[in-house]
Amino acid sequence: MTEAELYSVYKGVYVPSLLHPPECLKHYEDFSFRPDDVVIVTYPKSGTTWMQEIVPLIQSGGDPTPVETVPNWDRVPWLEEHRAYLLNLEERPSPRIFATHFHYNMMPQSFFKDKPKVIYVMRNPRDVFTSSFHYYGMAAYLVNPGTQTEFLHKFLDGQVMFGSWFDHVKGWLNATDKESIMYISYEEMIMDLKDSVTRMSKFVGKSLTSEVIEKIADRCVFKNMKKNKMSNYSLVPTEFMDQSKSEFLRKGISGDWKNQLMVAEAEYFDAVYKEKMKDVKYNFVWD
Ligand code: A3P
Repeated sequence: MTEAELYSVYKGVYVPSLLHPPECLKHYEDFSFRPDDVVIVTYPKSGTTWMQEIVPLIQSGGDPTPVETVPNWDRVPWLEEHRAYLLNLEERPSPRIFATHFHYNMMPQSFFKDKPKVIYVMRNPRDVFTSSFHYYGMAAYLVNPGTQTEFLHKFLDGQVMFGSWFDHVKGWLNATDKESIMYISYEEMIMDLKDSVTRMSKFVGKSLTSEVIEKIADRCVFKNMKKNKMSNYSLVPTEFMDQSKSEFLRKGISGDWKNQLMVAEAEYFDAVYKEKMKDVKYNFVWD
């Protein structure tokens, strides 16, 4: 099926129509944040599911009950998805934890007024591309990626769900009210998960012992987290996500793009990256 059949255009970017009917996007527009909400913001395939495991464990002080009993999409709902509309989020006690793939300039009014805490997770776009290529091949609600080169062009042109990686990252890096935003990368989490959990817990104002931090980090390393059926998407029917084609928790490493991109594709990627990111001052781990 084509983009026109599977996606709608919302605030200038493609969103999969099945997951984001107009009434749920309206619900998000009218949503009221609280200053103590924690919002995990990511471009898709940058580590959202990982964060949906880590942050609830931080907030529960390491108690695994929330991650063992509630699927990640209800535990940390995406505010733009139809589930958010059904979950009575207004009734949830503080501190609430949400996820969103929205660009900065797509965020609803209350976000700018009430200033919830944001953890913005970035990942090397070459690995985001690689992860996306496999994901688009197994998820029925997304347009089939076609050949790798075809998908590379779509990805670099932002003709994919939630638009351009470059616009997403640049928008969030240029956000005002930076004191309520923590920036972290997938690669930093791979390199030192304990340190990442420590920084995140400080940011959300949760004081944890080193033992608890160690326990959380251990639960959330790829091979352990992959066993959690509340987080590995094994509860989703095969017609929707066919994990025999590619698992959702696929490889969980940084640098897999080196196994995926042909030399010419990597060179093209680098040229586009250099041009689009030329004015960005941030020191990315992957540069
Ligand atoms: P790969 O396809 O490269 O393996 P998202 O949740 O934003 O859709 O991102 C999915 C990517 O995050 C996948 O990348 C997935 O394997 C990876 N991921 C999920 N949990 C992880 C973990 N505990 N450790 C490392 N990577 C993880």
